[in-house]
Amino acid sequence: MARMLKFNIFRYNPQDPQSVPHMQSFTIDETESMTLFIVLNRLREEQDPSLQFDFCCRAGICGACAMVVNGRPGLACHTKTKELPEENTLMPLPVFKLVGDLSVDTGTWFRAMYKKIESWCHTKKVFDPSAPEERMDNAVAESIYELDRCIECGCCVAACGTALMREDFLGATALNRVARFILDPRDERTEKEYFDIIGTDEGIFGCMGLLACQDVCPKYLPLQDVLGKLRQKMAFAAVNNLLPSFMKREVKL
Ligand code: SF4
Ligand code: SF4
Ligand code: FES
Repeated sequence: MARMLKFNIFRYNPQDPQSVPHMQSFTIDETESMTLFIVLNRLREEQDPSLQFDFCCRAGICGACAMVVNGRPGLACHTKTKELPEENTLMPLPVFKLVGDLSVDTGTWFRAMYKKIESWCHTKKVFDPSAPEERMDNAVAESIYELDRCIECGCCVAACGTALMREDFLGATALNRVARFILDPRDERTEKEYFDIIGTDEGIFGCMGLLACQDVCPKYLPLQDVLGKLRQKMAFAAVNNLLPSFMKREVKL
């Protein structure tokens, strides 16, 4: 017999002065291959049309459906109900601005962080649209694409103790983005320039290294490796600033 599932869902509409934060319980019958995406859509269609949540791709690509499922950030469209107990709690991601219920504004946060780290290729070359495409070593291209797989869902930020405590912390996702540019031979920034951006408590030295970010990343990005190497590289950069050039050491990402 199909299970009856109970979902305790955070409800609050910051746009409505009458609204107060509370939990609301819903019950729904489980169906074959059910995901949280299906649950929430059925609840909105059949029980409460005011329920707010975000979805776009339904395939783990857009990152819009991230929420806290039973205390753990994850993608709703990738969460199968057969992996869940009969009673569950759904909360919006912390850190990000609440839009309403389970919907948060990750875009503003990501835009601000990417602006801080100057998330674009810094080059003095003048763009020539008629020039042939620049060649890149296959292994380098693959290592960049590996880090570029981030879908900006915000799960790593929501799980991060430092991000919860300090709103200026770049978080694993922005640090991963810096690592991507360090790997990119087209970006001409120096080690000192990268140090000025992430060699701080807002950056890599604020990271406590407990790796909740890696545990919850739905795309399995190698955040442990990225953060470890960035920390090492920036520590050497700090020492290099004090040494004569023949004594400087470089850490490859
Ligand atoms: S390892 Fe660093 S970035 Fe990842 S969750 Fe911990 S403090 Fe945050
Ligand atoms: S690093 Fe992973 S958890 Fe963080 S935003 Fe990107 S895909 Fe989401
Ligand atoms: S709806 Fe796009 S990742 Fe879930």
